[in-house]
Amino acid sequence: MALTIQVLGSAAGGGFPQWNCNCPQCLGVRAGTPGFTARTQSSIAVSGDGNSFALINASPDIRAQILANPRLQPGRARRDSAIAGVVLIDSQIDHVTGLLLLRESPQALELYCTARVHEDLTHHFPVIPMLQHYCGVNWHPIAANGSAFQVQGVEGVSFAAVDLQSKAPPYSPHRECPRPGDNIGLVIAGAASGRQIFYAPGLGRIDPPVSAAMAGSHVLLVDGTCWTDDELVRGGFGVQSARDMGHLPQSGAGGLLEMLAPYSDKRRILIHINNTNPILHETGAERAQLAATGIEVAYDGQQIEV
Ligand code: MLT
Ligand code: MN
Ligand code: ZN
Repeated sequence: MALTIQVLGSAAGGGFPQWNCNCPQCLGVRAGTPGFTARTQSSIAVSGDGNSFALINASPDIRAQILANPRLQPGRARRDSAIAGVVLIDSQIDHVTGLLLLRESPQALELYCTARVHEDLTHHFPVIPMLQHYCGVNWHPIAANGSAFQVQGVEGVSFAAVDLQSKAPPYSPHRECPRPGDNIGLVIAGAASGRQIFYAPGLGRIDPPVSAAMAGSHVLLVDGTCWTDDELVRGGFGVQSARDMGHLPQSGAGGLLEMLAPYSDKRRILIHINNTNPILHETGAERAQLAATGIEVAYDGQQIEV
């Protein structure tokens, strides 16, 4: 069977619509205006056989995401899950809070993350010590050096982490001085086909290791957070630029679209899209510009066969 990526949540932190946002786009979703589609927060699930899955990032929307994807809850036992393990690409709130919602697991959660992320989740947002009072956590350290690893129970899929230049979370003491392992991208490969996908929802810079990972992949599922660097500031939503938050904007010189141009032979899909991003207006000019270059926008429930 092909390597399958199930998109559980295609929005950035906050989701779409965001709970407190009255921007025209969030209003558009709430009003049911054609051209605006609701999205939950950043997470995918990966399988090599369609039966057992690695959850990549555990979003605060995980409960709704499992409900929307019945394959994640098979009926082999009174209490059951197809999620064999959880892989984290950083320690951001939108990627880890869902761990708390998995606390009813009858076994310890099998958690794959770097030492840096483990440190944040032990000392600064102590989800791991908290879970020791519920199901417990069995940590599998992953190195951000490109060496391959497997998620136990997820057959036919291999993973490798690529260290990324991005940002540690706002709560981390290393927000402004990120260390190797604070942010990773994942090269996910199907053992049978040898085909691979590069997944990086938080991409601050395209440096040589990232280019190499992209060049060797067949599908690029990458950071769609902001269209312009100053989108949040100009819209009156915040004071930080996309780059301040560790996200390369799509438009403009040195932006992600320019960086993706050499890879037009590959399937290129944007994910982790902020509610301020005009590409969420499905009939808008920015979305048309993307379509003209062959770049797709991920949606909740999308299944990507690699
Ligand atoms: C980010 O990727 O920068 C996050 O979505 C921020 C957050 O979760 O608040
Ligand atoms: Mn995020
Ligand atoms: Zn909004």
